[in-house]
Amino acid sequence: MHKLFKGISKLYGIAESPGKVLRGAAMREVLTMDHAWIWVENGKIKSLGDQSDLRQLDGVHFDEVIDMQQQEVMPGFVDSHTHIVFASPRNEEFVMRIEGAGYEEIAAAGGGILNSARKLQLCSEDELYFDAAERLKWMICHGTTTVEIKSGYGLTLESELKMLRVIKRLKQDFPIKVRATFLGAHAFPTEFKGNPDAYVSAVIDQMMPAVCAENLANHVDVFCDKGFFSPEQTTAILEAAAKLGLRAKIHANELGITGGVQVAVDQEAWSADHLEYLGDNEFQLFAQVAGTETETIPVGLPGCSYFLGIPYANLRRLITEGCAVALATDFNPGSSPVCSLQMIWSLACTQMKLLPQEAFHAITCNAARTLRLENEVGSLAPGMDANFLAFGLKDSISTIPYFFGKNHAQQVYVNGNKVAENGNYLA
Ligand code: NIG
Ligand code: FE
Repeated sequence: MHKLFKGISKLYGIAESPGKVLRGAAMREVLTMDHAWIWVENGKIKSLGDQSDLRQLDGVHFDEVIDMQQQEVMPGFVDSHTHIVFASPRNEEFVMRIEGAGYEEIAAAGGGILNSARKLQLCSEDELYFDAAERLKWMICHGTTTVEIKSGYGLTLESELKMLRVIKRLKQDFPIKVRATFLGAHAFPTEFKGNPDAYVSAVIDQMMPAVCAENLANHVDVFCDKGFFSPEQTTAILEAAAKLGLRAKIHANELGITGGVQVAVDQEAWSADHLEYLGDNEFQLFAQVAGTETETIPVGLPGCSYFLGIPYANLRRLITEGCAVALATDFNPGSSPVCSLQMIWSLACTQMKLLPQEAFHAITCNAARTLRLENEVGSLAPGMDANFLAFGLKDSISTIPYFFGKNHAQQVYVNGNKVAENGNYLA
């Protein structure tokens, strides 16, 4: 099956070959091409070029020729950190926080993650699936074509498996790439409050082996922070996970400088996410591993800082230190109920002082690196998945984050097929 996408006014985020990841000052250089076309064969990019390059296409029989009508095109976005399987929103906590309560205070009183866990335990798999599928459609309509989804609102073996089975169904039913992460170590269930290590043992000895026996997860994650899992407990979980072949991503330094980054780097986690609180030592550690095979990618989640009113991660300094930084929505009911990476792009620019070009790479190729998928998604090069977005804009890279709050994606293509148009999910 050969398709030709022609009439593209400008193509952004191209690469010479698969595997692009940008670090430090290189993050501000977006590779573009004017008056471009993309040739797609069986869902992958076969070739791309501009008007001076049309001879390549001579004699090729195209099953379909799509005129992109002078729209601008860029790679589909990669959302590397989400919690979209949840029972119901937490509007009441939202209002409590407006009235002055703190996120940690609500959590300590049995709200927060435990509130979501209580609700989720009462939901059927079908109910969870239905709501999560709706949320995934919102995300796709806003340009997300690769997503990571975490468990972590189950906190019992049965409910964690229920969540992961929902994620498995999403993976089967949706055309986009889905990566599943086991986050049993998201909070201590109330019955383990007096003996948190017993819960860590349950995660290691019961939950992870069961998750792996059903092949339900690609990754493991731990909320390593003040009042949640200690660096020692986190290390124990990540070491056990590595033996089972689960690669680590971690929630670190959201509530304080608590050793999460050190554990992430020690354990060769693929990413360390949140990072609202960083000290010199943390910056140094990220810089030391930047560009290595086993680098830990720092991921900022500005939706969470915006929604909770906490500091924004200092990605500016991490870029100065030569790191490849990424951004994600953290879409979840407690700290970041946002589905749109376009909104994250804008927050990164206005609040974290990333240039539009840097933030663009943070939601495309660098985000792909956090999942070690940079050879398949996140930039446009021969051999990569034909996932791209079309915008009826000029200078999309700065116009999208500038006109914030609007969904600018006119069409979303996954494997060369149109899956969303003007905010409507089609596939
Ligand atoms: O990434 N910080 C830990 N977990 C989620 C929020 C969980 C919740 O409040 O429901 C996060 O922010
Ligand atoms: Fe999160």
